[in-house]
Amino acid sequence: MKPLLLLGALALAGSLAQAQTPRRTAFEPGQPWPDNHGVHLNAHGAGALYDHGRYYLFGEHKIAGPKGNSAQVGVHCYSSKDLYNWQDEGIALAVAPAGSGSEIEKGCVLERPKVVYNKKTGQYVMWFHLELKGQGYAAARTAVAVASRPTGPYRYVRSYRPGAGQWPLGFWEEWKQPRPGEADLKWWTPAWRQAVAEGLFVRRDFTPGQMARDMTIFVDDDGRAYHISASEENLTLHVAELTDDYQGFTGKWNTIAPAGHNEAPALCKKDGKYYLITSGCTGWAPNAARSFVASSIWGPWRQLANPAVGPEADSTFRSQSTYLLPVAGRKDAFIFMADRWTPKNPIAGGYIWLPLGFEGDQPRLRWADRWTLGAFDQPKANSSVSQ
Ligand code: DGJ
Repeated sequence: MKPLLLLGALALAGSLAQAQTPRRTAFEPGQPWPDNHGVHLNAHGAGALYDHGRYYLFGEHKIAGPKGNSAQVGVHCYSSKDLYNWQDEGIALAVAPAGSGSEIEKGCVLERPKVVYNKKTGQYVMWFHLELKGQGYAAARTAVAVASRPTGPYRYVRSYRPGAGQWPLGFWEEWKQPRPGEADLKWWTPAWRQAVAEGLFVRRDFTPGQMARDMTIFVDDDGRAYHISASEENLTLHVAELTDDYQGFTGKWNTIAPAGHNEAPALCKKDGKYYLITSGCTGWAPNAARSFVASSIWGPWRQLANPAVGPEADSTFRSQSTYLLPVAGRKDAFIFMADRWTPKNPIAGGYIWLPLGFEGDQPRLRWADRWTLGAFDQPKANSSVSQ
């Protein structure tokens, strides 16, 4: 075919695909969410970035069947102007070939990617939870990749155990020494929980660095960025300051909710206060979300109630938090993004996006079958949503 004819045919095929995908005008939580090709979004454990008038969604590309929760492809990226309609931007970070020896080789576990833009370097920085191939969830690392464009391709930089050789803020002198018999304490007993709250795992992992599983990244108003992760065998969350280039750790870190057994952290800031939504730790099965508030990212954090109310609130509407997305141009408008996991066929996992409301300090989530960004224009975005 002549080049011009070929271009015409491609353009026609493209517009036919677009025509087959009706434009969406609302969020429909839990329903299939087709991209511009009519294919259900493949961006699980996602985070989002707003950059030059477009939103970019980054998530785990899952495949069908039993291998689908390990990384077979990489991180999938989509872009959108309105948050309802998403254009496929392809694989932003690709896994390395199996057998290459790369830390991100095909078959590793690569979860919850989050991308932020670094003004100082002009780079897009992607962080994600990394488990090394063949080691289950034992490695508990966090990893970073960079790109000069939001859609990538991202170049893998390295992985970390954060906090190596550094005690958290306010860690008592007497907590720095192991206590006799502490390693033999029976898990889940009150004495063991108390020991965890008093630094049992922090001490154990002081030299190699702290475990890092479910994570998110938060950039504050002053440009400082923070890594928040499920650490200490998922018993305690850690918040750690990133370096100026967002590619490493300064060494300043603290614990959040010691021995509280939280994962799936998602964070936002409103009226100078930090709000954190998490889940409990029940694998792929949903559980009741938790919420916290603090006046400083370093704490103290005060635990609030389950933000979800109404039917299925005790399972967070059968989902697990992944990100709190600030809506551009709308003050105090955040979308709660969560996953409805389908571990036997991971590619089919659903997305629960709901408007995050506030009742005083209490973040609020109410179910809506269908809602629009207009929900944020109402005086109580939290208690009612529009069509
Ligand atoms: C729950 C986590 O939130 C997910 O990201 C994933 O790590 C699963 N656990 C694995 O069981």
